[in-house]
Amino acid sequence: MADRTAKLSIADTDLDLPILSGTMGPDVVDIRKFYAQTDRFTYDPGFTSTASCDSGLTFIDGDKGMLLHRGYPIDQLAEKSSFMEVSYLLLDGELPNKAQLDEFEYTINRHTMVHEQLKTLYNGFRRDAHPMAIMCGVVGALSAFYHDSTDINDPEQRRIASHRLIAKMPTLAAMAYKYSIGQPFLYPDNNLSYAGNFLRMTFGVPAEDYVVDPVIERAMDRIFILHADHEQNASTSTVRLAGSSGANPFACIAAGIACLWGPAHGGANEAALNMLREIGTVDRIPEYIARAKDKNDPFRLMGFGHRVYKNYDPRAKVMAQTATEVLDKLGVSDPVFDVARKLEEIALNDPYFIEKKLYPNVDFYSGIILSAIGFPTTMFTALFALARTVGWVAQWNEMISDPAQKIGRPRQLYTGPTQRDYVPVDKR
Ligand code: CMC
Repeated sequence: MADRTAKLSIADTDLDLPILSGTMGPDVVDIRKFYAQTDRFTYDPGFTSTASCDSGLTFIDGDKGMLLHRGYPIDQLAEKSSFMEVSYLLLDGELPNKAQLDEFEYTINRHTMVHEQLKTLYNGFRRDAHPMAIMCGVVGALSAFYHDSTDINDPEQRRIASHRLIAKMPTLAAMAYKYSIGQPFLYPDNNLSYAGNFLRMTFGVPAEDYVVDPVIERAMDRIFILHADHEQNASTSTVRLAGSSGANPFACIAAGIACLWGPAHGGANEAALNMLREIGTVDRIPEYIARAKDKNDPFRLMGFGHRVYKNYDPRAKVMAQTATEVLDKLGVSDPVFDVARKLEEIALNDPYFIEKKLYPNVDFYSGIILSAIGFPTTMFTALFALARTVGWVAQWNEMISDPAQKIGRPRQLYTGPTQRDYVPVDKR
């Protein structure tokens, strides 16, 4: 609440700007009336100092390396909870009791199939299409299948659209994979868990029974939990911005998928494993560390650094532990894991990384686990999108439910030509 103000003087205008406090985290200075009162804009490319909304979903303290969903620490959720439970928590605000969880799982299970006609859409893609290209297309196309979910002012329709998206993402992602390797699509098996069902649709074949390995199923579920939400990151802000115009939710999530694909965001998991493979052996690490520090070289250590975390990303800790469990269980000794461990150790002791507070992020170890399970690198970001869908829909829903919500419309500092007269083509 605003019981204090920040004083700001511009030319001959003195302003008292309200200071708002949340339940945790830094206060914010409310500048909503700034333009009206000063005829000036604030300037903050990349929104490094700007809160774009209020939200009760996720809290990050980047200096402490803290991540909470609805108040619960991510490490506790990753260890003790399930992705379905975390999804319920993000959507509804509280952990479900047993009956609520059963009902939620039942509902999600009942929405896992996709319309048969959607299959024909896959056939339009080249068979070597990147799964994220397919995901952008097919998730956006869901908007054409669900006219009944387009009344975004009806909470019930918003709820159904959210459940559909969470339920169908594993089916769509598995279909993208199957399409790329030329195998038939598998229908969901609703007797399996969310993660187990996804593993079966991805790695099973119609001619054989697929037995879900509980260790891999648990690792998959944990990876989903670790990616479920991350407050106002680029893709979530994209979903909010797209949704702020009243757009169809399926189309908004497709916009989020497009944003997530970039190597500075969700695409970093693919880029991180490619980088670790390129490094290949521990003795080559110093060469890559030197490149990362060289201002004239665009190379960055992928899976390192974060806009918000200036400490160890708590998700990376759980991910490193999960990598050990999965590799042990599968009996895989991947030299890339040794390179990752050593790279982390060297970077964390290097003055450049210490000074800039660059630590491993969630993407640093996730690729090693996903690769050991059998996913090709191109699927990594699709899995991130699958898991992040619950965060996107929860944030979208929170925004639409907020009566103060406005269409997102940033301003700019114009640096183009001033007004000039048109010159006919023969006079230019
Ligand atoms: N390797 C080497 N130097 C780095 C790195 C890195 N990975 N990340 C940041 N820096 C340096 C950067 O050169 C800059 O140096 P200087 O101050 O001398 O110009 C300084 O650290 C600050 O970097 P920045 O780009 O201004 O910071 P940002 O907050 O805009 O960028 C980031 C955050 C995640 C885009 C960046 O750290 C990065 O590109 N990391 C590699 C890609 C990656 O792993 N992304 C996944 C993020 S976590 C998953 C997700 O949420 O999507």
